[in-house]
Amino acid sequence: MIGRLNHVAIAVQDLAAASAKYRDTLGAEVSAPLPLPEHGVMTVFITLPNSKIELIAPLGENSPIAKFLERSPEGGVHHICYEVENIRAARDQLKSKGARVLGDGEPKIGAHGKPVLFLHPKDFNGTLIEIEEV
Ligand code: CO
Repeated sequence: MIGRLNHVAIAVQDLAAASAKYRDTLGAEVSAPLPLPEHGVMTVFITLPNSKIELIAPLGENSPIAKFLERSPEGGVHHICYEVENIRAARDQLKSKGARVLGDGEPKIGAHGKPVLFLHPKDFNGTLIEIEEV
């Protein structure tokens, strides 16, 4: 069911410092920061030849990544995103296999303007998984 790896998201405290590390040390192509207030994050997209990295930093009160950064102040891998062809069909199949979908189960528009859902990390080896319809 799952397709390509769409991106790996890394939570960071300092977006500018993390961007500089990817741009200047790793030599990656790094976007300007993009605020996503509806998701409570500032995002920087890093384009790799075969996938993307997203650096995410808290934006505003009650950011969904604030707790993660409290536990991991150095930052860390926050979630990985797999592509699916039909997000509702994928959701129904996942639920029928016992996987828990976070939130109300209805896809929301993600950072790339496509519908996304998140799956409970306890059902996937401690990894928060995002699925994105492409
Ligand atoms: Co993501």
